[in-house]
Amino acid sequence: PRRFALIPAAGVGARMGARIPKQYMAVAGKPMLHHALETFAAHPRIAHTFVVVSAGDGWIDELLTPELAQRATVLRVGGATRQESVFNGLVEMRAAAGDADWVLVHDAARPGLDAELIDRLLDALADDEVGGLLALPVVDTLKRASAEGRSEQTVPRAGLWAAQTPQMFRYALLRRALNEAAEQGRIGAITDDASAIEMLGLLPKLVEGSPRNLKVTLAQDAALAEFFLKG
Ligand code: C5P
Repeated sequence: PRRFALIPAAGVGARMGARIPKQYMAVAGKPMLHHALETFAAHPRIAHTFVVVSAGDGWIDELLTPELAQRATVLRVGGATRQESVFNGLVEMRAAAGDADWVLVHDAARPGLDAELIDRLLDALADDEVGGLLALPVVDTLKRASAEGRSEQTVPRAGLWAAQTPQMFRYALLRRALNEAAEQGRIGAITDDASAIEMLGLLPKLVEGSPRNLKVTLAQDAALAEFFLKG
């Protein structure tokens, strides 16, 4: 099967409070985006990798070495939301490289992805009709807050998972799912690719991920990501 990786990297990273978008902030000596890009580009089971950046991105060219450029293509088609960036990427990757059976969508803000986790996902979904995602069972006790910020209820954590990426779906299915979500005006309610698939009534498979694959959202997350990358 032909598999493409797609890294949406067109965000502005407002929550980090930094001057440069967070995907370009250094973690363990390299821009965050560089880690995931290299991991996919070096993976023998990934045919090609695509990065979606915003039209005016001034950092990506510096990062894409001639060697990396043979295995990865930059698409300057970032949208207003992550989902728009992913959808635009799906459209443009086919125009650039033809058909794919599968696409693995991975956030640039998860630098700790490694080849073993990619293999785990590929192996778990090889014969799957739908696809799935890396995720971790929730370990915290979950509280639902009242309007006043008091704990109103404890949400049972049994059966709850925290979604990670990559999220891997059949190309045509993901494209249809995101397109339908947009047409129904529900794209804003979607924070990952799996939720668009769920809206079609399909059930993505949960594949156990890893703490090292954390998403860097706040400044202190970068230190933890560095710890895993150096270990
Ligand atoms: O901000 P957040 O961590 O949710 O972003 C997840 C991923 O989506 C990041 O890699 C970010 O660069 C990307 N993104 C995008 N286009 C947007 C917003 C976010 O590609 N408009």
